[in-house]
This record gives sequence, C-alpha cells and structure tokens, in this order.
Amino acid sequence: MASFTIPQKIYHGPGSLENLKQVTGKKALIVIGGGSMKRLGFLDKTINLLQEAGISSVVFEGVEADPSVETVMRGVELCNRENPDLIVGLGGCSAIDAAKAMWVFYEYPDATFGEITAPFTIKPLRNKARFVAIPSTSGTGTEATCVAVITDTAKGIKHPLVSYEICPDIAIVDGELAKSMPADITANTGMDALSHDVEAVVAALASTYSDTMALRSIRTIFDTLPQACANGEDMAARQAMHDASCMAGMAFSNAILGIIHSISHQIGGMFGVPHGRANAILMPNVIRFNSRATDKYELMAKELGKETAEEFATEVEKLRRTVGIEDSFKAYGMTPEAWQEKLDAMVTNALADPCTGTNPRQPSEEEMKQIFECCFNGEVVTF
Ligand SMILES: NC(=O)c1ccc[n+]([C@@H]2O[C@H](COP(=O)([O-])OP(=O)(O)OC[C@H]3O[C@@H](n4cnc5c(N)ncnc54)[C@H](O)[C@@H]3O)[C@@H](O)[C@H]2O)c1
Ligand SMILES: [Fe+2]
Repeated sequence: MASFTIPQKIYHGPGSLENLKQVTGKKALIVIGGGSMKRLGFLDKTINLLQEAGISSVVFEGVEADPSVETVMRGVELCNRENPDLIVGLGGCSAIDAAKAMWVFYEYPDATFGEITAPFTIKPLRNKARFVAIPSTSGTGTEATCVAVITDTAKGIKHPLVSYEICPDIAIVDGELAKSMPADITANTGMDALSHDVEAVVAALASTYSDTMALRSIRTIFDTLPQACANGEDMAARQAMHDASCMAGMAFSNAILGIIHSISHQIGGMFGVPHGRANAILMPNVIRFNSRATDKYELMAKELGKETAEEFATEVEKLRRTVGIEDSFKAYGMTPEAWQEKLDAMVTNALADPCTGTNPRQPSEEEMKQIFECCFNGEVVTF
C-alpha cells in the first residue's frame, strides 16, 4: 500500500496570485527573503489581496539564502507575538523553507531543532495555522514538497527536515513572479528541478504517479530552460518552468531523493555553492554511478529521443553547458587545498544524509569519495 501527498489546492498560471483573495483566515505572517519580492511589488500585492479576503498581515523579512536555525527562531518569536492563523512563504525557496520551519516551532514551542531533523517525526500541524507557499524561483518545488532545508551555520551542515506535515495547504504557481530571475539563478534553479526529476524516478519510493510527473517535467525542462535563461520575458517559458518545477517537487516529495542531494547538501553547506549549480555539476556522474543498479534512466533518455543512461548523462552535460554552468567544482573556482581540507567530513556527512538511504545504489565510503573527486576534477565516473 502506498500514498501520494500533495497540497490540497494548487493554483497555477500567469496571474494566479489573484487567488489569494479566496484564502480564509484572520491574520497572516508573510515571510520573504532578501528583498526582490518587496522591490518588485509582489509583497504589496500579496498584502492587498489578503486584505481583500479580510486577512491582516505582518511581515518577516530578510531570510538569507540557505536559511539558518537562528533566522528561523527570530521568525518564531514574531509568530508567538502576533499569533497568525496563516503563514505565507513568498519568494525563493529559502524564504519558504524558513517559513515552514517557523511554522513547526510556532505549533510546538518545546520542540528542539535536533528532534525535528529526524525524518518523519514532526507532529501534526495546523492546530494554530495553515500554510500558503508562493515561489518566485522555478527550482525546488518546495510549494508542493514535504521538505524544508535549514542550515546549521556553526557546523556548515544543511539539514533537510522531512515530513508530510510540512507540505503546504495551498501552492500558488504564478510564473509572473519568476520573470525577474537573472539568467544564472534561472539556470541554477532549473537544473535543481531537473535533479529532482532525475532522482525521483530512480528513488526507492518511486511510483507510477511520481514517474509520470517526473518524466513529463524532464521533457519540459529540456525544451524550455534554455529559452527561460536566454529571454526571461518569455512568459510561456517561465510558466512552463514554474509548472515543471512544481511537478518535480510533487514527484520527489513522494519518491524521495538520492545522492546528488546528499553530496550537494555538503558542498552547499561547506562552500556556499548555489544548490542547483552544485546539483548540475554532480548529476551526470551520479547517473553513471547509479546506472549499474537500475535501468530507469532509459525511460528518461526516451523522453529526449535517446536510448541509454550514458546518452542521457551526455544530454544533461549539454544542457548544463547551454545554460552556462561549469563542468566541475574546480572550474567553478574552488581550490584543491580547500577541497581536500573538507573532503573527509563531506564524505562522512553525505553518507549519513537522509537522501542516501533512498538512492538506488548504496555507495561505499571509498566510492562516495571517488564521486566527490571526479566531480571536483571534471572526470567521468566509470565504476
Ligand atoms: N524544500 C525543498 O523541497 C527543497 C528542495 C531542494 C532544495 N532546497 C533548498 O532551497 C534553497 C535554495 O532555494 P532557491 O533555489 O529557490 O534559491 P533562494 O531562495 O536561496 O534564492 C536565491 C537567490 O535568488 C533571489 N531571487 C529569488 N526569486 C527571485 C526573483 N523572482 N527575481 C530575482 N531574484 C530572485 C533571492 O533573493 C536569492 O538571492 C537551498 O537551501 C536548498 O538546499 C529545498
Ligand atoms: Fe534540490
């Protein structure tokens, strides 16, 4: 027996932000990031639409990329003072994920961060508030996932919180919000979405439901990401990428992920490489490593008119180059000295990452280290 959990309602399409008028509640806490949503007028628009629905708003702003536990706790203080019955994550995934974690501690003030990082242990939410997610990047799909990634800055470790409790109640997938993304963020986040599809199809909990969404999303990303990067004003490409990212989110939220993410969480935590950019560098080599344990990459190759896992890995490399992402961490700019200094800790933490358990092939410590090394040097995995 299996299940498939997604938001109760997904509004999608250009202009779908207007559906905020249909949301019910009294007071909203709106959580935003560094300022793009404010600058572009989407924060005011959100406040006004909620006002039309009879909902007043307080705003928590300044969530940094890869949000920290400290930022989450500052948001919880505001929640405790204001008692919202609606939490709205608006912006990039960092803002939305911070809002998800605030929600957990608002509902369970005695919980500790250590307790909630154990997968599927978050207790039932929605006793105090419901959650609306409005993404402005087309990448993580957090508007439809059971995941929030929070960084322990002292240790340099990104912790994925995983629980179907934190899957939002309402997702608004409006491509207009993504239009202002510069080409590099469009590329990074688009490759993140692709990595969710690629990992979901081969992950331990994959089903016909998740495969269908992921395979369609893969085709859309190959068809539209280059155009979304080249011409951000192309609304059809923007909305297609926004939808593909949400579908990838629904797929991986139910099938779970693999070692692209286990490794990327370490490289992001230690070196601050943008999440999707790290995934793009890792993806072809992880495909090669896993292809010895599953033939499902052939399904992905077929979406692109190809046949083999190796052909699929090559297509990912071509797309990566087209959207301007480097072939290795060395080319990205990391020094061999800094890399070597952190390597053993990254290997240990990647093996312990929750995403490793659902990868189709369990790497030994030595294999994990070799995958890290090949991706640093831009070499092809052959084992
Ligand atoms: N929750 C999940 O399911 C999930 C899945 C995978 C990864 N993650 C995590 O999500 C985080 C990355 O999120 P992200 O890729 O959305 O990036 P982000 O939220 O960190 O934003 C990246 C940058 O883009 C800017 N930005 C966002 N929207 C913009 C817009 N429309 N126009 C101009 N600038 C804009 C932000 O201000 C920021 O500077 C990482 O911490 C990653 O580990 C979460
Ligand atoms: Fe991701």
